[in-house]
Amino acid sequence: MPITTCVFDAYGTLFDVAAAARQAASEPEFAAIKETWPQIAEHWRLKQLQYSWLRAVTDAHTDFWHVTQDGLDWALEKTGHAGDLALRERLLALYWELQAYPEVPEMLGALKQAGLNTAILSNGSPDMLSGAVDSAHINGMLDALLSVESVGIFKPDARVYDLVGAQFGCAKNEVLFVSSNGWDAAAATGYGFTTAWVNRGGDPVDRMPWKPAHTLSDLTDIPELAGL
Ligand code: LAC
Repeated sequence: MPITTCVFDAYGTLFDVAAAARQAASEPEFAAIKETWPQIAEHWRLKQLQYSWLRAVTDAHTDFWHVTQDGLDWALEKTGHAGDLALRERLLALYWELQAYPEVPEMLGALKQAGLNTAILSNGSPDMLSGAVDSAHINGMLDALLSVESVGIFKPDARVYDLVGAQFGCAKNEVLFVSSNGWDAAAATGYGFTTAWVNRGGDPVDRMPWKPAHTLSDLTDIPELAGL
C-alpha cells in the first residue's frame, strides 16, 4: 500500500529539545550553566518522558506542560540549580520557541508539494504545538496538529496512534510515522504503522518487541521513504 500520510513526533524529532538549555547557556545572565547545560537538557528530557509514562500507567493524566515543568524541576535540583527561578523561567520560555532542525522546512515542503497528508502526533498540548510550529514557521506545511490531549493519555497508548486514522481516514499501512524516540517508533511499529526512527545520536536500538522499519540519521530522506 503506498504511503499517503506522513506523521511526525514533535519534540526531538522536528524540534530540537536541547536547544532551550543550549540557548540559555549562551546568554551572559545564565553563565552558571555554561558547563552543566548538556546534563540539564538530558535529565530534563528523561524525567519529562518518565513522568509521561508513569502518568499513563497510573491513570493520573495531566498535560505535557505540567510534566515538562516537573521534569525541569527535577533536573535543576539534580544539577544544583534548584533555587534559580530566573533560570527556570528562561528555560520554560525557550521551550515554547524551540528551533526546528534545519532540514525540516524543505522536507515538509516536498511532502506537501507531492500532495501527501502531513501531521504532528505529539504528547504536547495543543497550545504548545501551535507555539512551536508558529515559531519555526512551518504551520503552513502541516495539515493537522494532533495532540494526546484529545484522548487524555500519553504515548505509546494505542488510542493516541488511533488519532491518525480518525483524522485522515487512512489505513495504518498508508502511514509513515517518524520519531526520534526509539520507544515511540517501536510502539508505532507494533500498532501497524510503517516507521522511521531518526537516530541522530547513534543510540542503541530500544529493546522492545518491535523494531522500527527504517533508521535514519536525520529527516532528509523522508520524502524518498514516502515513495517520492
Ligand atoms: C512528543 C514527544 C514524545 O512530541 O517527543 O510526543
